[in-house]
Amino acid sequence: MPGSGLILGIESSCDETAAAIVERGSRTVSSVVASQIATHARYGGVVPELASREHLRAIVPVVRAALAEAHITLADLDAIAVTSGPGLAGALLVGITYAKALAFANHLPLIAVNHLEGHIHAVLLNERETEAAPGADAAHEKSVTLRDDSALALVVSGGHTHLYLARPAQGSWNYTLVGRTVDDAAGEAFDKVAKLLGLGYPGGPWIDALAKFGNPNAVPFSFAQIKTKAHLGGKPARTKAAKTAPIARLDPHFLFSFSGIKTAVLRYVELHGLRAEAKARVSRVLNSFRPPQSREEACALCPQPTLDLIASFQHAVIGDLMKKTFAAAQSLGTRQILVTGGVAANRELRERFTREAAARSVRISFPTLALSTDNAAMIAAAAWPRLLARDFAPPELSADPSLALS
Ligand code: KG4
Ligand code: ZN
Repeated sequence: MPGSGLILGIESSCDETAAAIVERGSRTVSSVVASQIATHARYGGVVPELASREHLRAIVPVVRAALAEAHITLADLDAIAVTSGPGLAGALLVGITYAKALAFANHLPLIAVNHLEGHIHAVLLNERETEAAPGADAAHEKSVTLRDDSALALVVSGGHTHLYLARPAQGSWNYTLVGRTVDDAAGEAFDKVAKLLGLGYPGGPWIDALAKFGNPNAVPFSFAQIKTKAHLGGKPARTKAAKTAPIARLDPHFLFSFSGIKTAVLRYVELHGLRAEAKARVSRVLNSFRPPQSREEACALCPQPTLDLIASFQHAVIGDLMKKTFAAAQSLGTRQILVTGGVAANRELRERFTREAAARSVRISFPTLALSTDNAAMIAAAAWPRLLARDFAPPELSADPSLALS
């Protein structure tokens, strides 16, 4: 049985170097995230080689800062947890190698965590922290919690748009893949559309901030229903996402595709003569990493047709995520939905999912904004059931860029 219950989590799967200390999977003692946004912004996307180099620079100070913020030393820990995949191979290796060395030198067990399971545990960690908060009333404590029943989890980020049925099983969780994207992830579509409109990286926060100043019904984007066999022409998909999970056995109603809307936005930009002004925006945006905060700032940056295009794009993507997620929940008879990952930080997404869930009497949960995007608290939280089950990583643990969750 663990002593202190303290786990150091380390996350380096993409462009954030993060470390956190979480107690018994239910209390964040410290959480430090070093973002590489400034490094990748000028390229409009993550450059894997630069990401590995930045992780190498940041990993030691970030872990030290997490320990210092928690006022503990390595001797106080019960285990070290690290993301082993999916993600960028070189980036993952930095975290894994450092975690292995720390665990070996300090005689601590090492726990390998799937990044996607981490995102799901971000919501569970939040729920436990809310329950334990001083103001939480007795009624709330007695109410049914997310942990008591199965839940449909939409993990929607820059690398994934996956639907899992998560079921509690003897203190741990089982996951069944229900649906996923056949090409781009939703966050990737936000990033690519932002890039072609001359906005900053990552694109999600820019689109989110600008969409509220546009008309969401100005451009009628539509999503065709995906037919598995027709879409693939009978062959396995060759995308990165496809490697992590086969799609042939999934219900086509729960499959997503976001590469088409990106092309539709590009066509619209060309047809409506918005290309030149998008190009002109790039240098202005590079000088300010902050998305506009007011209508004045938004209008100074983008003409109204571009704001309308942005609002329509976001509205269409969120509508598609909603339609398929609620259909899957209904088909599986699940009364709980959780939405997590970077795109779950989106304001319109939270509002519309919350409204729809209320209309259908379905329980909906999101992580806090800080826990929506990549962090290490979610990794340390996901490791807690593993520590209880003494499910430790082998000494030969290595990065698995296309690690599946099931
Ligand atoms: O979970 P995350 O930090 O990293 C991955 O695991 O991919 O997600 C990053 C993604 C990026 O594509 C970013 O544009 C998107 O999440 N994102 C958002 C928002 N904040 C971040 N997308 C829409 N609205 C937002 N507010
Ligand atoms: Zn992530």
